[in-house]
Amino acid sequence: MSHHAPAKPVSANRSNALAGIAKIPGDKSISHRSILLGGLASGLTTVSGLLEGEDVLHSVDVARALGAVIDQDADGVWQVRGTGNGALLEPEQPLQFGNSGTGCRLFMGLLGTYDFDSTFIGDPSLSSRPMARILDPLRLMGCQVVESSSGDRLPVTIHGSPMATPVQYRVPMPSAQVKSAVLLAGLNTPGITTVIEPVMTRDHTEKMLTGFGAALEVETDQDGVRHIRVEGQGQLTGQKIEVPSDPSSAAFIIVAALVIPGSKVEIPGVLMNPTRTGLIATLLEMGADIAIENRRISGGEEIADLTVTSSELKGVRVPGERSASMIDEYPILSVAASFANGPTYMEDVGELRVKESDRLAAVARGLEANGVDCAEGEDWFEVKGRPDGKGYGGGTVQTHLDHRIAMSFLILGMASEKSVTVDDGNPIATSFPEFLPLLKQLGASIGEAT
Ligand code: S3P
Repeated sequence: MSHHAPAKPVSANRSNALAGIAKIPGDKSISHRSILLGGLASGLTTVSGLLEGEDVLHSVDVARALGAVIDQDADGVWQVRGTGNGALLEPEQPLQFGNSGTGCRLFMGLLGTYDFDSTFIGDPSLSSRPMARILDPLRLMGCQVVESSSGDRLPVTIHGSPMATPVQYRVPMPSAQVKSAVLLAGLNTPGITTVIEPVMTRDHTEKMLTGFGAALEVETDQDGVRHIRVEGQGQLTGQKIEVPSDPSSAAFIIVAALVIPGSKVEIPGVLMNPTRTGLIATLLEMGADIAIENRRISGGEEIADLTVTSSELKGVRVPGERSASMIDEYPILSVAASFANGPTYMEDVGELRVKESDRLAAVARGLEANGVDCAEGEDWFEVKGRPDGKGYGGGTVQTHLDHRIAMSFLILGMASEKSVTVDDGNPIATSFPEFLPLLKQLGASIGEAT
């Protein structure tokens, strides 16, 4: 679905203490990569705990269109039979990615070295996002951009070179999607493709490529810059994958439990990869009571069980160096900061302007509409909090087809004096379809606006 469904306003009211166990669905980044790499590798890949949100289901459809055979067994485990590296089929139709930047950009990289036409389409949010960051390195590898909308936006049609050229590419902005796209393009390229990554971003592509048998090495130089080399045209072999709970979805429940007085919520099996835990580090600095227990390794990734107890928070300065490890969490951090004592200042957050929406603008307008004091610069953001939420709420928030804006403001409403309405709850299904029922089960007062 691409959100042509009529908008569905949702409201959240001031809620009583949340309590219980919150099982969070699978990590979105790992889910996309499981389907993409499973669909490419030889033999069978099984995936348990796959996030069955709309974004990932678009990746499933795209992998099928490229020749993968994908089913679910009676226990809900996904069975993916891939084409073999280098053997993807030419798609017969445009590839529809809905709202998903990750699905679109990773598959664009993968297909950028195939000698056929592929066309990429998406919803109005995805169609407004920059694709030059993927098309520029692909052009260097010999890919022809047959068609694109102004400013290299979707719809885009590409045609890979029959003889792709390996590149050494320095990623110009901190972006796991760009890094991953170039590495995936390297899989069907003779020789060694190198990505130079000055600021480390989530490393699931590197880890999973190694798991599937790619010849990949990572070297970190004395300046902390990562050099990731992948040798093309090797064999990839199907894997057994268990997807851990998504820390970027857990973030909403963590903050809800912190800001609603008297709450205590357990969240088992959350991914704790250090490239993803910046929000937890920040909340701990703000004084949050988050117990992290049973740290263990599952499927090559660190996971842990969290217990979150409502806490008095204080404002902090969030250093720019941390932004890559919490890039999707700034909207919900802004909600936590709304209930903190003193200002919270977020450095180096300019990338938020090119997410599913311009998230700095969307958060600023939403907070203003609900009586929260904030200030916004081109690449910084500040929230001046007030612990009791007195006077907060009463506004309607424009979500701009952005799931994280919708969820963040519903959490704001649960701790505000007056209710908060989001203009459209449909986008929540892209990443966290269980969000509303789960919060109701924990005791939140939330539902379709009347
Ligand atoms: C993702 C990378 C990040 C993140 C997105 C998922 C990924 O995007 O915001 O939700 O799975 O690689 P950028 O690469 O644009 O920072």
